[in-house]
Amino acid sequence: MFDRKTFVEININNYLHNLQLIKDRNKSNIIPVLKADGYGHGAIQLSKAAYDFGVDLIAVAFLGEGIEIKKNGVNIETLVFNYVTPKYIKENIENFIYTIGSLDQLEELINYFGKDIKNIKLHININTGMNRMGLNIKDLDKMIKIIKDYNLNIHGIYSHFATADNLDDFVKEQYELYINAVNYIENANINIPIKHISNSAASLFFPEYSLDYVRPGIATYGLQPSDIKIEKNLKPVLTWKSIVARIGILKKNESVSYGRTFFADKDIPIATIPVGYADGYFRQLSNKGYVLIQGEICNIIGRVCMDQFVVETTKIPEIKLGEEVVLIGKQKEKQLYAENLAKLAGTINYDITSKITKRVPRVYIEEA
Ligand SMILES: Cc1ncc(COP(=O)(O)O)c(C=O)c1O
Repeated sequence: MFDRKTFVEININNYLHNLQLIKDRNKSNIIPVLKADGYGHGAIQLSKAAYDFGVDLIAVAFLGEGIEIKKNGVNIETLVFNYVTPKYIKENIENFIYTIGSLDQLEELINYFGKDIKNIKLHININTGMNRMGLNIKDLDKMIKIIKDYNLNIHGIYSHFATADNLDDFVKEQYELYINAVNYIENANINIPIKHISNSAASLFFPEYSLDYVRPGIATYGLQPSDIKIEKNLKPVLTWKSIVARIGILKKNESVSYGRTFFADKDIPIATIPVGYADGYFRQLSNKGYVLIQGEICNIIGRVCMDQFVVETTKIPEIKLGEEVVLIGKQKEKQLYAENLAKLAGTINYDITSKITKRVPRVYIEEA
């Protein structure tokens, strides 16, 4: 597994630091979002760490993700964000909290379960402007009638911000719509034990909107939720390391890699890094990305292949076969952030870490 000496190191201490930072800022509980295998960091190990930290509820996108976490011995209450077919809810009725994301879905569940629908622990997602999931405000009366008629087990009501990372006025608009909806439901004598709306950006920049819980994903991994406002106190959790697998000289007028997109204008020293797009290293980083070797920036030349790419190593006179290469993370005094690669690849940090494939082993480190 470690034959190629390419791996991702996950720092549990930094994960716990980020959870504590968010908790302190909001003075509320946290629902860490661990979908997409914890944004590529490893949902099983991080849900264990979150549980030991004192978290009592986590969230995933799909039921299968939650089953995987429980199967690996993490017995923590888990909210599933997305639609789940009634048959699968029935098979897993006791172990999870399910989201109602539309009136149609609620009606489908009534048709399938009848009176037994009361055995499902539910959170209602209210659509306040994201228009992706969530029951529409105009359907609140119908929902309230169903909650009463079927004695539904409503454990929580939430919504989701569309623009908290932009820090714009729409955040307040959505918050007010949400609070009005909550008041409307409570005025109909329905008890809502848990209220939550804040993602990472809101939990860092709008702590006044934290309710019973905040629901951050990206910031728990120490990644920036916004490119407008930087939160310096977050600590990146993930470091991606590899090695120098070949050292060479690219002669003047020679090209490198597929398609011959880079030609040397003089003799240049080069090194091959055994990582490619099949590991989730973005092909868009061809001729754009860089790595750290001996704490120096080494630029990618030519195209990123499936299993390798090549960098220029002019700044490193004494390079050695097998020496450490950092693709994301710190080496000596330099730090290469997932955000740096995201910018160069024309995407966001979420995309960079969640696409690191299973071919790259995750190693978990925690200092006592
Ligand atoms: C419903 C919901 N809540 C919370 C989050 C966490 O968002 P972020 O990673 O920006 O904190 C997500 C992620 O997209 C989500 O879909």
